[in-house]
Amino acid sequence: MGLNRIGILTGGGDCTGLNAVIRSITRAAIIQHHASVVGFEGGFEGLIFDRDQDLTVKSTKDILTMGGTILGTSNKGNPFEFREFGADGKVDIHDYSEKAIRHFKRMMLDCLFVIGGDGTLQIANQFYERGVPVIGIPKTIDNDLEQTDYTFGFQSAVQVASDAMDRLHTTGRSHSRVMILEVMGRTAGWIALEAGIAGGAHIILIPEIPYKVESLLEKIKYRIAGGSPFSIIMVAEGAKELGGEEIKMESGENRLQGVDQLGGVGFYLAEQIKKEIDLEVRTTVLGHIQRGGTPNAFDRVLGTRLGSYAVRAAAEGKFGNMVALRTPNLELVPLKDLAGKVRQVPDSSQLIQCAETIGISFGR
Ligand code: F6P
Repeated sequence: MGLNRIGILTGGGDCTGLNAVIRSITRAAIIQHHASVVGFEGGFEGLIFDRDQDLTVKSTKDILTMGGTILGTSNKGNPFEFREFGADGKVDIHDYSEKAIRHFKRMMLDCLFVIGGDGTLQIANQFYERGVPVIGIPKTIDNDLEQTDYTFGFQSAVQVASDAMDRLHTTGRSHSRVMILEVMGRTAGWIALEAGIAGGAHIILIPEIPYKVESLLEKIKYRIAGGSPFSIIMVAEGAKELGGEEIKMESGENRLQGVDQLGGVGFYLAEQIKKEIDLEVRTTVLGHIQRGGTPNAFDRVLGTRLGSYAVRAAAEGKFGNMVALRTPNLELVPLKDLAGKVRQVPDSSQLIQCAETIGISFGR
């Protein structure tokens, strides 16, 4: 099957490598199929409200290394449950899915390439089940998608977090302080785990292993007794104390959209440590720095591979699938197999084993 005209959108939180994928899909569709390419702006909102732009080899020139997405994105515009806020602050929920499908058909597109994380790909699957030819491409810094070894964006975020750890090491050592770095990841500890190992953390706290404060204190005291009166703690935003809850931001804007915003565990932890240990404690929250900037080489290559493979899958009519990395190859997996699932770090993970073997504490 040939491709005459295709559409692309990026949904959910941004990350590095999105433009690498947009460029790859555009170039593969034009070079291999002489197709015309349309990019929807602001995620699914562009599809609902007719906001789009033509993409060409020329317009996607030089974007390989550029962070963010030239199309814009949103983690708010779910067409099946679109939330609109009245002046009185009241929320109205609309189903705009039919409007979006009508728009898609009017544009005579052969395929919609949806680049996103679990929420976005779940929406993509809902469209597929209503007859829209869809191919999904897995993105997120959290690396929490089922069925793929890695999502693009993750390795760049790990690099940023590990660079931050290096910097905290030097200042923490100079001042004999406990330095805490809070990183993103939602309910998965992948960023904290990989960047913690890469950055030489003494303690790594992840959502999958609820921590005991006594265990952390023990590790810090052990280091003091051994002549190292400083400790570096990597904590994932979704980490929680044994028997406790994740810490959510009260003022989180995303709550209006029905989504909890995590954050604050680094400060909470600092208070717990300060009470018991006679060292100064400082917290750094890395936040969206992990999502911005230039993709590293791994994410550029992965993004380019996923994009070109997605075009090949579309040309073969293999809709309703996500392109996935099953090292060393790319494969197709049904979008429905991802529905509602989050891939957390399994307790049997060799990464955890490796870290514990060399003395890193998980606060067990
Ligand atoms: O899913 C990506 C992510 O960066 C999470 O790690 C984080 O919890 C969330 O998005 C932050 O969302 P927002 O950009 O809406 O603050």
